Order: sequence, then C-alpha cells, then structure tokens
Amino acid sequence: MTTILITGANRGIGLEFVKQYAADGAEVIACCREPAKADELKAVKGKVRAMALDVGDPASVEALKKELGDRPIDILINNAGIGGPHPVTPGTLDMEAWLNVFRVNSVAPFLMALRFKANLKAGQKKKLVTITSVLGSIAESGGGNQPYRASKSAVNSLMHGAAKDWAKDGILVGIFHPGWVQTDMGGSGAPVKVEDSVKGLRARIAELNAASSGSYRDYSNRAIPW
Ligand SMILES: NC(=O)c1ccc[n+]([C@@H]2O[C@H](COP(=O)([O-])OP(=O)(O)OC[C@H]3O[C@@H](n4cnc5c(N)ncnc54)[C@H](OP(=O)(O)O)[C@@H]3O)[C@@H](O)[C@H]2O)c1
Repeated sequence: MTTILITGANRGIGLEFVKQYAADGAEVIACCREPAKADELKAVKGKVRAMALDVGDPASVEALKKELGDRPIDILINNAGIGGPHPVTPGTLDMEAWLNVFRVNSVAPFLMALRFKANLKAGQKKKLVTITSVLGSIAESGGGNQPYRASKSAVNSLMHGAAKDWAKDGILVGIFHPGWVQTDMGGSGAPVKVEDSVKGLRARIAELNAASSGSYRDYSNRAIPW
C-alpha cells in the first residue's frame, strides 16, 4: 500500500490531496497544525491519520518524526504555504512577517525533506514533492508580491538541488505549480477548481521519474522556465 505524508492537509489543496489519495486506497498521514479542529479532514473516509504539524516549528517537525519513527513513506508532499505580506513599501516592510514567509514556504519544506529522507529512502516510490508557484519563476516574473515570489524561487532552488544531491539515493523530486486555484489563498475567482488541480498534480506525481526529477512543471504538465 502507498503511504503518503501531506502537510497543510486541513484545507485547500492539501485537503483535496487527502480526499483523492484516500479514495484511491492510499494510507494518508494528513498533517495540520490543529487536528482537533480539522473537521473536514476528520470526515474524510479511508486510511487517513490526522497528525499535528506546524511546519515552521522545528520542535513540531521533530515530534512528528519521533512519532513516525522509521516508518517508510512513499510520497512526501510539502503543500503547506502562506502568502503575503504585501504591499511591500519602505514604510510597511515588516521584517518578521517577511522572514516568516521564508520560514514556512522555503526552509520548512527542506527541513521536512531532510528529517524524513530516511523514511522516503525506506519507501517504495521515494518521491519528494513540493507545491511551489509559478510566481517563483524569475523568467516569467511580472513583479509584485515580492516576499511570496522570492520564497517560492528559494524553495525551487532548494528542491532542484535536492534532486541532484539525492539522485544517488533514488529519491525523485517534483517541483509543481498547482495553477491558480479556488482555495482560501487563490480566492473564489480563480479559474482552476481544486479537484482539477489535484487531479493534474497527482498525474504529475505518478509520472515523476529519474529523467523528470528536479524539473519545474505545472499541474497540466507545462514546463515552467526557472
Ligand atoms: N491557491 C493557489 O492559487 C495557489 C497558487 C500557487 C501555489 N499555491 C501553493 O499551494 C499550496 C497550498 O495552497 P492553498 O491554495 O491550498 O492555500 P490555503 O487554502 O491557504 O491553505 C494553506 C494550508 O497551509 C497550511 N499552513 C500554513 N502555514 C502552516 C504551518 N506553519 N504549518 C502547517 N501548515 C500550515 C494551512 O493550515 P492552517 O489552516 O493551520 O492555516 C492550510 O492547510 C501552498 O504552498 C501555496 O503557496 C497555491
């Protein structure tokens, strides 16, 4: 049976991943900050275990690792993410808020990858997936939203490096943009339904192989220039 760990699993894209993978019969380790309050997550049928994880808190990552021990993980999906702060002007630049975006969007996915690398190596599929954004593309940048954009460029760089560094361990790395999706982050006016985004992302994850590891693609398989 495939075991999948998902961060930010209580709402949005993360919750939809849980629903679709659970419906397929996978065993899902669904991580979120407050499992006790995650009613929608707890209502998902199947082999779903809600577990506490604040990705921005190394002690929380450590506690999860302690609880899971050496248990094999086939697919680790770094999905949790935050937007803002914006606008960024000289009078409004909030250093702590900016650093928090990097903490959650850039450093945390890499910390998760490092901490659960042995679990991934012990799994059958060995897939490390990060949900990034097209806004992390420097080549396609239209400016604005600087902290979020830069945090996603940074995680792209870290995951591209992991694909190179961990190829010898058989670990495959996916760096995927979900589209502009109807979630709390994307807003109700976004063009892509969360079900369609996750369907596409799951197809990208399923076809991830040694040749495509480390590439930057969207949910519909468009290759995004760095
Ligand atoms: N929606 C889009 O259009 C879009 C486009 C490009 C990329 N993305 C990326 O897709 C991913 C999912 O986005 P979404 O649209 O589903 O956003 P969302 O609806 O705002 O959900 C974000 C999720 O991340 C979790 N989270 C935030 N900070 C966390 C932390 N410190 N520890 C653990 N979980 C944390 C949230 O948990 P809480 O409920 O506890 O806050 C929530 O489950 C993000 O990485 C985002 O950057 C989204």
